[in-house]
Amino acid sequence: MKAKPIATVEAKKKDKGDKGGAAPAGNMPAGKPAKMTVLKFAPGIMRPIQKQIKQLFADAIKGAFPDVKDQPEPVIQPSRPQFGDFQCNNAMGLFKAHGKAMGARSPKDVGELIMSCLPANDLLDNVNVAPQGFISMKLNSKWLAKLAKDTVLDVEGVDYKADTKRNVVVDFSSPNIAKEMHVGHLRSTIIGESTCRILEMVGHDVTRLNHTGDWGTQFGMLIEYMREAYPDYVNNMPDLSDLQGFYKAAKKRFEDENDTTNFKKRAQMRVVALQSGDKESLLAWKTICEISRVQFNIIYDKLGVTLEERGESYYNDLISPIITDLKAKGFVKESDGAQCFFPEGQEVPLILVKGDGGFGYDSTDTAAIHHRLVTSKADWVIYITDLGQETHFFKVFDLAKTVGWHTPPKTRLDHMGFGVVQGADGKRFRTSSGESVKLIDLLDEASRRAEVELKRRQGDADEKTGSALSEAEFKDAAEQIGYGAVRYFDLKQNRKTNYKFDYDQMLDPKGNTAVYLFYAYARILSIQRKSGKAMKDIPNSELTIGSNSERALILHLLKFPDTIETVMSDLNLHWLTEYCYDLCNILTTFYTENRVLGVPEENSRLLICEAARKVLLKCFNLLGLKPLDRI
Ligand code: ARG
Repeated sequence: MKAKPIATVEAKKKDKGDKGGAAPAGNMPAGKPAKMTVLKFAPGIMRPIQKQIKQLFADAIKGAFPDVKDQPEPVIQPSRPQFGDFQCNNAMGLFKAHGKAMGARSPKDVGELIMSCLPANDLLDNVNVAPQGFISMKLNSKWLAKLAKDTVLDVEGVDYKADTKRNVVVDFSSPNIAKEMHVGHLRSTIIGESTCRILEMVGHDVTRLNHTGDWGTQFGMLIEYMREAYPDYVNNMPDLSDLQGFYKAAKKRFEDENDTTNFKKRAQMRVVALQSGDKESLLAWKTICEISRVQFNIIYDKLGVTLEERGESYYNDLISPIITDLKAKGFVKESDGAQCFFPEGQEVPLILVKGDGGFGYDSTDTAAIHHRLVTSKADWVIYITDLGQETHFFKVFDLAKTVGWHTPPKTRLDHMGFGVVQGADGKRFRTSSGESVKLIDLLDEASRRAEVELKRRQGDADEKTGSALSEAEFKDAAEQIGYGAVRYFDLKQNRKTNYKFDYDQMLDPKGNTAVYLFYAYARILSIQRKSGKAMKDIPNSELTIGSNSERALILHLLKFPDTIETVMSDLNLHWLTEYCYDLCNILTTFYTENRVLGVPEENSRLLICEAARKVLLKCFNLLGLKPLDRI
C-alpha cells in the first residue's frame, strides 16, 4: 500500500506566515521552523489526530532545544473549546529545565520559541501561547474536511490500524462445566467480545480462548453421580437441561453424612480413574461437558460471541514437564508438603503441586501461560475475570517474568479485572429466592421489557403513520434493544467498579444507554430517507465545514482513532462508550443549530450526517450492538 504524508505538498511550499519564524524572545536565540517528520498512513485508514500533533511538537521541541538530550515527550491534550482544539503543555517544564539557562524570562518565551519552531504544516491554525506558556491551537477546517472525506466518506467502512501487529491471546468468558454461567461470566463475555473486536479491527492476530473449568476433583463427584442416577447414560444421553440441579444433587450426595454406600470414596477414586484415562469415566466426563457446552453456546449465539474452547483439561499433560523444568532451574520451593513458587513480596505462593500430589487452578494457569507465551508465541495475553482473581494472575505473571517466558516490553500481560454486578439492594445479584441469576433469563427479561415499550410507542406511531411492525419484527427489534441495553450498560461502567443491575436505567431512552444511541442512529437514517437522496449519489466533494457545530461534529468523528488508542493503552472500554455518547450529544447540537433539509447546505450536511452514521455504526459493531433502522 502506498503511504501518504500528513501534510500536502502545498503546505510545504506555503510560506511560514504566522506559524513559524517568530522574533527571538528575551535573550533566547531565534527559532526557525523545524523539519517535519512525515508520518506514514495507509490510504483510506483513519489517522489519530493527537498523534500527528504530537509529532509536530516533537519536531518543534527538537528544533527549539537541539542540544538537549532526552527531549521530553510532547504533552498534547484536548483543550477547552474557548481556547482551541488542543494544547501543548511542555513549555513550563522546559523553561525550568533548560529555558532559563538559555535566556528565557518566562515559560511564555519558551512557548513562543517552540511555536516558532513548528514545522510548516496545513493541519494547525491559530497557534497561540498563553502567559503560562501553554500553546493552544485550532485545527484547520479545510484539513478536517479533507480528512473526513478521505478516511470516512470515501471508504466502504471506517477503519483504523495500529502501528504494529501483535499476536494476542484473550482468555475470556471461561465458565465452569456443569455450573450455570453467572453474571460474572456475562461481564467477562461481554467485555471480552468487545476487546477482541477492537483488537481485530486494529489488525492484531487474536486468539479468543475459552478457558472453561472442565477438569478437577468435582468431576469425580459428577461422574459417580451420573453412573448412579443414569445407569444407561452410555446409550442414552440424559436430558440435563437443569445442569445446575444435577450439580447440586451430586454435591448433596457427596456431602451426605448418612451415606452408607461410600459415595465420597467412590467419587475420589473416580477422579483418579478419570485422570488416568479410564474409558468409561472419560465418556461420562465428555457427556457432561457436551451438555454444558450446548447451554453455553445458546448464550454465545444470542450475544454473537465467538470463542475457541481450550479448557483446563487441555493443559493437563503439559503441567508435569513444566514443573520438572522449573524445579531443575531452582524456582520451586516446598512448603507444607506442596511444591510452590513464591513471587516477590508475596506471602501466599502459587501452588504448582498440591500436598496430595494433585494439580489445581494454579498449576493449570502456569502451564497455560507457558503454552501461550512460549509455545504459541503470543506477545500479548489478556485475562478477563472479576477482580477477585487479580492476585492469582499477578502471581502467574510474576512467575512468567521470573522464569523468562514474559519479557516486557516485547511481551505484554494484562489482567482485565472487573467489579461485581449487584442487585438493586447493593448485594451480589441473586434471584428473589437467593439463587444466582440465570443469564438467559436476564437477557430475555431485558428484551421483554424493551418489547413492551416498543409496542407502546408503536401504538402512538400507528395513529400518526398507520405503519406497523409484524410480530416477528417486534421480537427481533426487542431483542436487539434488550441485549444491546444490557451490553452497553455493562461496557459503560468503569470496569473496576461494582454496578447495580437496573433494567429501568439500562432502557432509559434519555440516558447514556444503547437505546439513546439507537435513537440517534435511527434519526440519521430518517433524515436521509426524507431527503429522497441516496448518500452515494452526493459527490463527497460537496462536504464543507461552515458552522461551529458542524466543525465540532467532524472533529469528534475524527477523534475515533485516538479513542481506540486510549482504549488499547489501558483496556478501559468505557472510553469508547463515552465517545459514542458524546457523539450523539454533539449530533443533537448539530441538528439544533443547522437545518439539514431544504437549505443550500443540504448536501454538505447530509454528508456530515453520513460520516457520523458510519463512525457510529463502527462503534456499534465494536460494542456488540445491532442498531435498528427505525424505532
Ligand atoms: N473458570 C474460571 C472461573 O469461573 C475463570 C478462568 C479464567 N481464566 C484462567 N486462565 N484462569 O472463575
